[in-house]
Amino acid sequence: MESYVYSNEIIKNSLKAMNLPKNVRIFDTTLRDGEQTPGVSLTPDEKIAIAEKLSEIGVSAIEAGFPVSSEGERESIKKIASLGLDCEICGLSRAVKKDIDVAIDCDVQSIHTFIATSPLHREYKLKMSKEQIIETLVKSIEYIKEHGITVEFSAEDATRTELEYLKEAYKNAVDAGADRINVPDTVGVMVPNSMKYLISELKKDIKVPISVHCHNDFGLGVSNSIAAVEAGALQVHCTVNGLGERAGNASLEETVMSLDMIYGIDTGIKTEMLTKLSKLVSHYTGIKTQPNKAIVGENSFAHESGIHAHGVLAHALTYEPIDPEIVGNRRRIVLGKHSGAHAIKSKLSEIGVEVGTSVSNEQFSEIVERIKSIGDKGKIVTDADVMAIAEDITKRT
Ligand code: KIV
Ligand code: ZN
Repeated sequence: MESYVYSNEIIKNSLKAMNLPKNVRIFDTTLRDGEQTPGVSLTPDEKIAIAEKLSEIGVSAIEAGFPVSSEGERESIKKIASLGLDCEICGLSRAVKKDIDVAIDCDVQSIHTFIATSPLHREYKLKMSKEQIIETLVKSIEYIKEHGITVEFSAEDATRTELEYLKEAYKNAVDAGADRINVPDTVGVMVPNSMKYLISELKKDIKVPISVHCHNDFGLGVSNSIAAVEAGALQVHCTVNGLGERAGNASLEETVMSLDMIYGIDTGIKTEMLTKLSKLVSHYTGIKTQPNKAIVGENSFAHESGIHAHGVLAHALTYEPIDPEIVGNRRRIVLGKHSGAHAIKSKLSEIGVEVGTSVSNEQFSEIVERIKSIGDKGKIVTDADVMAIAEDITKRT
């Protein structure tokens, strides 16, 4: 997709030397990691409604849930897998036979199986040696492959694992039949350069597609996912609105728009549906999206300051990176204490009040003052306020 940003000379030149993929798969885990957001629990019907929208928007894979976790979870996953959606339906399992059996029973097309590899998890959680972990992951992958199911293997806490051991674990996973490997930055400790380094190192030994799963503990989930793509990752795990454990996961809308608009990489996502999808997920999960959330937030394309509103009214791209319609969002000129004459004139015109004909220049100055004084009290100036002020002032003459 050609865009204003993408055709920018600085960006273009900075990306020129990179060997970027043409396509990146979006593996959506809103219904699994996203549902692990504290306080979120979706009913089977809600999960199905979200899955249908995710498929419609064009994700490559949906991680529908963690089958072993509950009966309701299995019911939802089975139903989602039976819908014949236009994307891969995946179930999560630990590298444990019982988990794998229930995932198989849900008729998913792929199983995302994981075991932790980092020293912390080995010692305090699993109480297993390095060798035992490799033995376990190999057995699990071979078992899933015996059932003819696609396997994505994750070394949980990969980014805090010794590199040589991590490579060994992934090499064993591939030899056992893993179709893709996924690199979870489980507690979000990577920075873009470390992610690039790690993926480049893994690429030397791993010949199946590499995926990443970045948590957002330092607010770098999207940047780290993108850095991984720069280094050759072909799939990114995302969640709608960046939901997920703790500070969440890389947000789908931010990842997709960056890859698409800045790098020109096709994710297959119908971007004009992003804002609707975000609202749907917010509605079902009960997690409000912050107004300044990039891409889909209520304020992502809102302008209050006089200078910005003036610029946007002259040419929207002066203060917007992309047209909001591309992501199904909308531009708003918000009136408040920072507003300038251009924005207020434009708002008046929207409600049928023309400066110079309906109101004089003096009356207009008074309208401006009254709008600013509402803004000064920390209040939002609504269309109704503007209408009332204009009526009040014109009535007096
Ligand atoms: O963050 C993580 O490590 C996970 C695993 C299950 C892959 O979500
Ligand atoms: Zn996770």
